[in-house]
Amino acid sequence: VSAGAEALNQVLQREAPAVWEALSPLGRRAYYPPDIPFQAQQARGKKYNATIGQITDGAGSILALPTVRAALANLSPEDVNRALLYSPMEGLPELRELWDRWQRPADAPLASLPVVTCGLAHGLALAADLFGGPGRKVIVPAPFWGNYRQTWAIRTGAEMVAPPAYDGTAWRPRAIAEAAAALPAGEPAAVILNLPSNPGGYSPTVAERAELLASLIEAAQARPLVVVCDDAYAGLVFEDDIPTRSVFWDLVDRHPNLIPIKASASTKELVFFGGRIGFLTLPFARRSAVAEALEAKLRGLIRAGLGSPVALSQVVLLQALRNQRIGDEVAAMIALMRERYRALSEALSAAERQCDRIQVLPCNSGVFALIALRGLDAEAVRQKLLAEYDVGLVAIAPNYLRIAFCSIEAEAIPELVRRTVAAIESFAIESM
Ligand SMILES: Cc1ncc(COP(=O)(O)O)c(C=O)c1O
Repeated sequence: VSAGAEALNQVLQREAPAVWEALSPLGRRAYYPPDIPFQAQQARGKKYNATIGQITDGAGSILALPTVRAALANLSPEDVNRALLYSPMEGLPELRELWDRWQRPADAPLASLPVVTCGLAHGLALAADLFGGPGRKVIVPAPFWGNYRQTWAIRTGAEMVAPPAYDGTAWRPRAIAEAAAALPAGEPAAVILNLPSNPGGYSPTVAERAELLASLIEAAQARPLVVVCDDAYAGLVFEDDIPTRSVFWDLVDRHPNLIPIKASASTKELVFFGGRIGFLTLPFARRSAVAEALEAKLRGLIRAGLGSPVALSQVVLLQALRNQRIGDEVAAMIALMRERYRALSEALSAAERQCDRIQVLPCNSGVFALIALRGLDAEAVRQKLLAEYDVGLVAIAPNYLRIAFCSIEAEAIPELVRRTVAAIESFAIESM
C-alpha cells in the first residue's frame, strides 16, 4: 500500500475500525494522489497558475468557443466558467451544499457533504469499490435491480446473497437481518436497501420500518455492516401513511458497526436522467477525520475512473436547486405520478379479481408496479405482449412482470392492463 493510502488507513483504523474492517482490498489501496488536480487546486487564485491543462484567458476564465458559449446563453459568466472548466473532483461546492439542503430533513443527524458522482449507478460502483471485493457478501432482497449484480459481483467479485423480499405478498422487514445472521460471526457484510424499491414499487409502513431498522441495528452487533441506501426514488411516495424519509438518516450513529451510505441522484428526484448527476453521502460529520479520509479515497477512485465529474450537468442542476420554485415543481411531478399510480392500482386490483394467474404485489411508491404470474413464464408473456399486443413490459425471472407506470398517461393505463391480462389469459387457456 502506498504511503498516501497508509495515512488514510491509519485514520480509519483509529477512528472507525468497523469501516476499516469492511474496506475491500481496492478500498484499502485507494487514496487521492497529490498529482495534477491536487496541485492545481492549491494554485487556484495565483497570478500565474500554470498547473492544469485548461485553456483559459490567463486569469482563470474559460476561452470558450463561441458556438459552445451560445448554447449556454442563459447562464451567467461565472456559471459558464463553472460549466466549461473542470469540476473539483468531489463536485461543485455550491451544488454539494444545495443537495445537502435538498435531501437532509431538518432534524437529521450530521452527515458528510455529498460527493458528486456520475449518476447513481456510479455512486453504487464507488461504494462497491470501497466495500465490495472478492468473496464479500452483499445482501439484496430479491427481486432486485439487476445492475446491482454487475456493480458488485461482476466488477468486484463480491457474492450476492438474495433472500426473498416477499412472503406471498407480504414484504419482509427482517429479510436482510435473517440473511446476515446466517453468515459467520464477525465477517463484514454489505447490504443494499432500495426504498422505494425497484422493481417492487414498495416502501415500508411505519411498523415495518421500525422492524427493519431494529433488525439492521441488531445485525450490526455481529459484524461490520455497510448499508448502501439506494434512494433513487426518494420522495415518490403515494400514500399518506407511508414515511418518505430515507432510512439512511435513521441508521446514522446507531451502532459503531453500522455504516450506512446514502446514494441519491437528480436522475429521478429531479427528472434529469441524461444529466448523470448522483451523490454519495457518508454517515460522518463534515470535515471529521473519518469523512475526510473516506472522501480522499473517493476522490482518488473518481479521478481514476472519470477523470473528474461532469461540470455542465452540475451547473444545470444548480439553476434548478437555486430556484425557490423547485420544491413546487417536484411536488407537481409527484402529483402526476400519483394519478398514474392510482389508475394502475385500480386497474390491477380489477385484473387480479378477474384473472387467477395474476398476483399483484403491494405497491405504494416509486415508479413501478410488480405482478407475479402463477404458473407462467414471465419472459414468454413479455414476448407475446411485444409480438401481438403492442405492449412493452419488463420480465424478471422467473415469473415477475414490471410495469413502469411513470411513462404511461393515466388515461392509457386501463388499456395497458387490459392487454396484459389478455396476453396472460391466452397462455392460461393454451396451457390448460
Ligand atoms: C434502484 C436504482 N438504482 C440506481 C439507478 C441508476 O440511476 P442513475 O441513472 O442515476 O445511474 C436506477 C435506475 O434505473 C435504479 O432503478
